Amino acid sequence: MKKIAVFASGSGSNFQAIGVAVQSGILNAEICLLVCDKPGAFVVDRAEMLGISSLVINPKWFRSKEAYETKILQKLTSLDVELVVLAGYMRLIGSTLLKAFEGRIVNIHPSLLPAFPGKDAIGQALAAGVERTGVTIHYVDEGMDTGPVIASSAVAIDVGETRESLHKKIQQIEHSLYPEVLEQLLNGKEEAVQWEKSVH
Ligand code: GRF
Repeated sequence: MKKIAVFASGSGSNFQAIGVAVQSGILNAEICLLVCDKPGAFVVDRAEMLGISSLVINPKWFRSKEAYETKILQKLTSLDVELVVLAGYMRLIGSTLLKAFEGRIVNIHPSLLPAFPGKDAIGQALAAGVERTGVTIHYVDEGMDTGPVIASSAVAIDVGETRESLHKKIQQIEHSLYPEVLEQLLNGKEEAVQWEKSVH
């Protein structure tokens, strides 16, 4: 069974969806660790409910980003983690983790990248008045939401769409797409990894 670690900073609905997919056998992997950089975040409660151990670690406790990431890396190495899965981790990955996990860190972002990278991608799409946005899963590099795309799924922005309604549609897609893509990455055939989906 492949071992993954999920990094999250907030509510953790994607973390939960991945955890449920593991429990139900949709995703053949072991989530051996949640890494959370925000003490008190709800995702930590979710981990407890799912029986997944967590490393709650505030970068402010360390003298540098390198020291912070070295601490995380030690834990990942001791657990033999193969893939790092970012799910609402609100921090750029630094060179310490990037070097150690080159090509083995993935992220999910609520837009069709390269459109609307960074914070509040849903608000950015609404403000831009585009007719569609979506979800992208990509490999992580040193940039902000810039690594090679693995999969994406489009969502129509309807007339009268609100932030809440769009957020709900995007979350629904994220919660099924992320486990599906992780299963392909960890256990699927190489050629099946690169695909596009369109919903609507
Ligand atoms: C998701 O929309 C994800 O795409 C983005 O952060 C959000 C995390 O949501 N990177 P949650 O904490 O998983 O509910």
